Amino acid sequence: MGRRTNLALLAALSAAFATGWLAFAYATAPARWSLVLHATTGFAILVLVPWKSIVIRRGVRRRRPGRPASVALGVLVLASLLGGVLHATGLLRWWGAYTAMELHVGAALLAVPLAVWHVLARPVRPRRIDLARRTLLRQGATLAVAGAAYGASEAAVRLLRLPGQERRFTGSYEAGSFQPELMPVSSWMFDQVPVLDPARWRLRVSGPSGVREWTYEELMAYDDRIRAVLDCTGGFWSGQDWSGVLLSRLVPEIGAGRSVRIASHTGYDRRFPAGDLSRLLLATRLGGRPLSPEHGHPGRLVAADRRGFWWVKWVVHVEVEGLPHWLQLPFPLQ
Ligand code: HEM
Ligand code: HEM
Repeated sequence: MGRRTNLALLAALSAAFATGWLAFAYATAPARWSLVLHATTGFAILVLVPWKSIVIRRGVRRRRPGRPASVALGVLVLASLLGGVLHATGLLRWWGAYTAMELHVGAALLAVPLAVWHVLARPVRPRRIDLARRTLLRQGATLAVAGAAYGASEAAVRLLRLPGQERRFTGSYEAGSFQPELMPVSSWMFDQVPVLDPARWRLRVSGPSGVREWTYEELMAYDDRIRAVLDCTGGFWSGQDWSGVLLSRLVPEIGAGRSVRIASHTGYDRRFPAGDLSRLLLATRLGGRPLSPEHGHPGRLVAADRRGFWWVKWVVHVEVEGLPHWLQLPFPLQ
């Protein structure tokens, strides 16, 4: 019984973790489906709590070494669950300088090493009987109850008219659309805002046909416009009018199979397929005004239909490469 509870928890935790990242990878429809699975597997952890508490009581009596780490794991998983529900209902969206979404993902990330340790230190060996019909039915029932709990929470958000009903399909909340000064500022993880002198800043475009450096003044002469939604993994979205120059004007025709790496002054970078160039804007203005340092002055990328972490700020280098665009980590480590 305890064994099966632990295995079910392992499955639910892994699925919640994987589907959370899957949702972050999309700014389009699959994000919704990943999140339905995500919330259901997240709620399944709560459904398993009564059974797990029996395992825990037994385990605590055995006084095994490393118990505080197991307790810390419990605290982090519960904190992550709480952060997820607070974000989704909108009951609390900010906690000091952090969004509930940032706390949600942060607690889940901190829990990973503890969870790995916990499973290795208290191994549970799967048995054939775990695939027996009765066991599978029981796991199915757990998922069904979790799905119903998720459905009920979504219905409650609407009935009670909680702020959560305003969420976009990615789970993000609108913020400061078409009011650039109200648009929240955020960066992926560790980037600090640099203050760059536009007179000395250069955009270096390099590829097989050579290197060309563009000045700020030269780029400001372009007025390509894109209206796009920046959907940040921190949990907000903002629609804005951006202007600048389409990358297809700066980069000569490149063959399929090649990619373009866009790098920031901070070293942060992302790689895009060649076919995206005509849709990628190197923005120099937001709402008709020069960018602020926080939003990427002198130039930042606008990558419509991609989550915010693709919108590289403080761009200094556009590099055509022979590598395929998918040859990169799905999420930056910086
Ligand atoms: C939400 C995730 C989990 C939390 C919060 C959690 C927490 C705990 C706690 C507090 C204990 C009792 C203290 C201890 O023995 O260290 C415990 C025991 C245990 N856990 Fe977990 N656990 C989780 C997931 C898992 C998973 C995924 C497995 C294995 C697949 C597992 C296997 C065990 C085992 C075998 C014991 C020992 C039971 C005994 O000695 O009788 N746990 N867990
Ligand atoms: C311990 C691992 C995790 C658990 C148990 C978990 C569980 C949950 C739960 C229960 C919710 C609330 C769903 C709702 O009430 O609608 C939620 C929301 C959310 N989680 Fe997680 N989560 C985990 C990790 C992650 C990770 C690693 C990510 C992203 C990389 C993530 C992204 C999200 C997003 C975007 C939402 C908002 C969904 C919405 O507003 O509809 N989660 N999570």
